[in-house]
Amino acid sequence: MLKIKELQQRRQTLLTSMGEGIAIIPTANEVIRNRDSHYPYRFDSYFYYLTGFTEPESLLVLIAGAQPQSVLFCRDKDIEREIWDGFRFGPEAAKTQFGFDAAYSMQQLDEMLPKLLSNQAKLFYSLGADTAWDARVTGWLNKVKDLARTGVSAPEVILDVRQLVDKQRLIKSPYEQATMRLSGNIAAEAHNRAMRFVGLNSAKQNLHEYEVEAEFLHEFYKNGAQAPAYTSIVAGGANACTLHYNANNCVLNDGDLLLIDAGCELDGYASDITRTFPVNGKFSAAQKDLYQLVLNAQLEAIAAAKTGHHWNASHEAALDVLVQGFIDFKLCKGSKDEVLENGGYRQFYMHRTGHWLGLDVHDAGDYKDKQGNWSVLEAGNVLTVEPGCYVRPADNVPEHFWNIGIRIEDDVLITQTGNEVLTKNAVKSVVDIENLMAGHA
Ligand code: GLY
Ligand code: MN
Ligand code: MN
Repeated sequence: MLKIKELQQRRQTLLTSMGEGIAIIPTANEVIRNRDSHYPYRFDSYFYYLTGFTEPESLLVLIAGAQPQSVLFCRDKDIEREIWDGFRFGPEAAKTQFGFDAAYSMQQLDEMLPKLLSNQAKLFYSLGADTAWDARVTGWLNKVKDLARTGVSAPEVILDVRQLVDKQRLIKSPYEQATMRLSGNIAAEAHNRAMRFVGLNSAKQNLHEYEVEAEFLHEFYKNGAQAPAYTSIVAGGANACTLHYNANNCVLNDGDLLLIDAGCELDGYASDITRTFPVNGKFSAAQKDLYQLVLNAQLEAIAAAKTGHHWNASHEAALDVLVQGFIDFKLCKGSKDEVLENGGYRQFYMHRTGHWLGLDVHDAGDYKDKQGNWSVLEAGNVLTVEPGCYVRPADNVPEHFWNIGIRIEDDVLITQTGNEVLTKNAVKSVVDIENLMAGHA
């Protein structure tokens, strides 16, 4: 359970880094899917990080200075609407339950914001993220400017509040780490379930990618995850060579590999796992060669993800293994240094080895400092490690590798002493996958 104390601490940290001025942080809008049906609602990650509040139509105001204030604007209690749409806290209960200094109705926003913006030197706001909010904030600022002759001044600088919060979000608290561990566990068991299911059904004709998707979605929801963390990829055979394939509607063929990239969202926190396994439960020789190569690269990349190493160390470690393998398997020509230098490996490995993970699957936070140096990993960072190999048919490629697409992805928490793989329960060695699919695990 996310405690008020932690929420107040997050807001205090931001108020301290603001120094002076006012921050305005709206949550996400509800979005119409068609006619009067909405997409499932998802709060804004910055707003949620600072408030823990999940209702739409809410906004956080932080006022820095000698007497820091955190103020929530939210929907009023409305028994009539609650009969239709469900519970709302209302300002009074929200103030105490989430530890704000004050809370008001959203109805008071246009009246109160010009007053709160008056005589503030700086405005911290995510300009450009939402044009409707930009217009509304501009309207409030113009109201303040209209009062210039009465001696009131408007903020002279607008700074991106996300820059400051990103730094906080990069280091996960013990609560966040525990939630991400749970999210990782649920997703890991979901991948195991999908593998087991394909193993059991591999003799079935017309087994579709979406039938496998249904298996891991079942496991997500059954264990309390609120949603998939991103659009799932269930890619049989050549589909795995399309990096963002998500039609998930093809038949799975005996002799092909199946790549699944799927994670869940638990209390706002994403997991992000990819596993690749043979539809018929047994890797062919060519599949095993490339699979073991990617797995070796991933293990080296995970070992390189530790406190004090720079962000790119994992990518470099993965490339080192992959490029040597590509040369050994006659996918690339030349020495390792030559192939690294001329980028020939990009025909088969064209993405990077990971990203920050947290409230967003591609989470907040810089990868380089202002001087252009890679960030140095710190305890509390969470990142993915996800090397791959994607072989499309081509004249320069041995035919037995054609249409093999492999990625292996885990979520890694950096600790004081090294790292913890949050998704370690998803099986990934050749022997463990074959055993699980044969029903021996
Ligand atoms: N599933 C998104 C990613 O792996 O980056
Ligand atoms: Mn990823
Ligand atoms: Mn992924």
